[in-house]
Amino acid sequence: MTLYYKQTPKIVKIKNLPQHINEEVVIRGWIHHIRHQGKLIFIIIRDGSGFVQCVAKKGNLKSEESFSQLTKLSREAALALKGIVKKDPRAPYMGIEIQITDIVKLFHPSSGTIELEIQPDSGPDVLLNKRHLVIRGERTSKILFFRAEALKTFRRFFENDSFVEVTPPTIVQTQVEGGSTLFKLKYFNEDAYLTQSSQLYLETAIFAFEKVYCILPSYRAEKSRTRRHLTEYTHLEAEMAFFDFDDLLILLEELITTVTNTLAEHPIVKELNPDFQKLEKPFRRISYSDAIDLLNKLEIPNEHGKPFEWGDDITEKPERMLVDHIGRPTFLTHFPKSMKPFYMKINDENPEVTNSADLLLPHLGEVIGSSQREDDYNTLLKRIREEGLNPEPYYWYLDLRKYGSVPHAGFGLGVERYIQWILNLDHIRETCLYPRLINRATP
Ligand code: 4AD
Repeated sequence: MTLYYKQTPKIVKIKNLPQHINEEVVIRGWIHHIRHQGKLIFIIIRDGSGFVQCVAKKGNLKSEESFSQLTKLSREAALALKGIVKKDPRAPYMGIEIQITDIVKLFHPSSGTIELEIQPDSGPDVLLNKRHLVIRGERTSKILFFRAEALKTFRRFFENDSFVEVTPPTIVQTQVEGGSTLFKLKYFNEDAYLTQSSQLYLETAIFAFEKVYCILPSYRAEKSRTRRHLTEYTHLEAEMAFFDFDDLLILLEELITTVTNTLAEHPIVKELNPDFQKLEKPFRRISYSDAIDLLNKLEIPNEHGKPFEWGDDITEKPERMLVDHIGRPTFLTHFPKSMKPFYMKINDENPEVTNSADLLLPHLGEVIGSSQREDDYNTLLKRIREEGLNPEPYYWYLDLRKYGSVPHAGFGLGVERYIQWILNLDHIRETCLYPRLINRATP
């Protein structure tokens, strides 16, 4: 019998054990926990699909030698076990227990003591240094599994709406979101950056596919040490041709409610965030100007402890206080031109503001940045110059306004922030396989 190929009929995934009650099966995985109690050994096995309790009783095993082998094992040993699947309401997982009949194969015993590596009271730095071990844990592996489910759900939405997934480069020579958060690098003899956003490349692709999206890393040399900032994050971005500002907000509402209300049914949301409420459309909309008035009315100060003035940045804390006051998802719209990048379309009625919207979520703040894009060649060129940028490297971006320019719009969503919000996690680092933070690029 092969133990390596998934086609092998006899190896049963732990999640499928309820279909094999009273049958003898082989399971394969790692010892998550092991406890000796008199003549019994209780072993929790983990195989990536779930956890199950297995019990070894001396007389039940094929040989005494197998039993004595089990007594010597410790956590994280990798093995394949044969046993009979039994229903047992006292068992900690699925109400199922496996009565071990044989060790089919011991791949590797553990050569260290994992209990000494991570302890229940280990601090965040130890846990991050040992993240390669921590991700095997029940809570962390659940969060990471859920992240994969969320990405699948987003992709399904895009597929159903005829978006095409594209893969822009992440080594680039143009900045998108301002110079202060750029990671610079030498690209042979030239200067280059790690991308801050794939937006400009997505804009090129709408002329080939009309509606496009990507799910790729973006990089920000963020100096801010907050519970929602990473230096490398997964950016879900989309761009749509023949879209004005209203179309954009309607699509965003549809995307966020559809994906969120699907995920709200997921057992991991029900377990980790049992109070989570499904979303209702429409979301609240409030302009930047009205938000400034409301912040002052609520006596929420700006980052310098002073009342807000028009043109001030609404930083993380007041932003969260604002959306918590409103109590539901909110589009903060029409930011001043002076605060936003060159690519945003200026509002027809008020040339001081842009057709832009951030989506704010209660307890988190901003999860999406979005706007209608400037589609006129001369206006765009002027705005690039006004920002002090050299238009030359943007020649390809400007060309888009020469050949078949159309009204278009797009957005970027921080995947980790979204997961943090829906699972109600304290810190964004919990949502990453290996978080990249201001003071950490290891492991
Ligand atoms: O608002 P941002 O900077 O928008 C853009 O980059 C646009 N070019 C996107 C587009 O229109 N295609 O970033 C978009 C989102 C934010 O709302 C936030 O969720 C996330 O990216 N984000 C971060 N997430 C984690 N750590 C950081 N340092 C982040 N910076 C932005």
